[in-house]
Amino acid sequence: MRVFLTGGAGYIGSHTLLEVLSEAHEVCVYDDYSNSSPHALTRVEQLTNRKFDVVQGDILDQSGLAAALVTFKPDVVVHFAGKKAVGESVEKPLMYYENNVVGTLSLLRAMEAADCNRIVFSSSATVYGTPQYLPLDENHPLSATNPYGQTKLMVEHILRDWCGARPAATAVLLRYFNPVGAHDSGIIGEDPNDIPNNLMPFVSQVAVGRREKLQVFGNDYDTPDGTGVRDYIHVVDLAKAHAAAISFASAHTGCEAINVGTGRGSSVLDVVRAFEAASGRVVPYEVVQRRAGDVATYCALPEKARNLLGWQAKRDLADMCASAWKWQSQNPDGYKD
Ligand code: NAD
Ligand code: UD1
Repeated sequence: MRVFLTGGAGYIGSHTLLEVLSEAHEVCVYDDYSNSSPHALTRVEQLTNRKFDVVQGDILDQSGLAAALVTFKPDVVVHFAGKKAVGESVEKPLMYYENNVVGTLSLLRAMEAADCNRIVFSSSATVYGTPQYLPLDENHPLSATNPYGQTKLMVEHILRDWCGARPAATAVLLRYFNPVGAHDSGIIGEDPNDIPNNLMPFVSQVAVGRREKLQVFGNDYDTPDGTGVRDYIHVVDLAKAHAAAISFASAHTGCEAINVGTGRGSSVLDVVRAFEAASGRVVPYEVVQRRAGDVATYCALPEKARNLLGWQAKRDLADMCASAWKWQSQNPDGYKD
């Protein structure tokens, strides 16, 4: 199949690119490198020994995007391009609505121009808002607690309506839980531009000596050790879920939301201990106040992915930490060196 990846140079995009190339699909990556490096693409090319098309462009550039799609003629688009920092979305909501929502409208118009009817979308478990019950299944009520989450919800609604109006259309809304880790080679991985917002990249940077210590945001939650519990998912398992979603999209029409998680929760201290074991380094930490907007526990019910996609996560927390450490220790400055 011909697969078009918006945001394919980013963290999840580059791992999915590698997976999709290994399944012998033809690929075009469209990325403006606003939060990524072209080196990630060079490294994927080296790892797979496969060529693929690359177009540097902004999804908001409707005519440029339409030209890229019309030229490549994809069977399916996987839409990663978007901004993802919750705190920044609170400070700059218009930038988030424009990039994530207007950007998706621009993409759908370009897809219509190229007669492409299939899309796999990077949604987030954040669309469940504050959990009313656990584990979270796809029928859990939806809500958003910040502009980033709103953009994901809005795009889900847009894609549902788009499929409703086009009998041949398919949208697979993949609701990721907490993607972490790196490819086993340690050659590609997560390379945050700034101070990491998320736990795993922060822990990696402490272990490698780039930061002094981790701040644990609260140890008085109603969880086994008092720290926040999340469903961490290895990025390679997540990439394989995309490959499965691409196959599913080629054989079905309509809109399906699907959780991508493991169904197992780990606390902040579980992650610290697992990372220490994987790296052989001590990860100093201090417990500080809770972070505004955080919840005690987020955990997926991953049955629908198993039933519809034939996919389930295979890698555990030890694998996630070992691969994150391999990437971090081999590339202490990410793609910059
Ligand atoms: P990332 O920032 O590493 O990748 C996003 C990519 O999109 C980058 O390469 C960036 O340069 C590109 N991009 C952004 N805006 C663009 C634009 N206007 N035009 C062209 N390219 C653009 O992020 P990621 O972690 O790989 O996340 C990918 C997607 O998954 C995002 O939509 C994100 O919201 C979603 N998601 C991520 C997580 C996570 O924890 N990483 C969790 C849930 C959902
Ligand atoms: C965050 C986002 C969520 C997004 C997800 C993507 C917020 C409020 N939520 O979720 O919208 O979909 O990332 O992966 O930003 N922690 C620490 N110290 C740190 C960092 C985190 O103790 O320096 C704790 C947090 O309190 C939480 C856990 O680690 O309990 C995981 O945090 P994080 O990696 O930021 O993910 P989420 O909060 O689940």
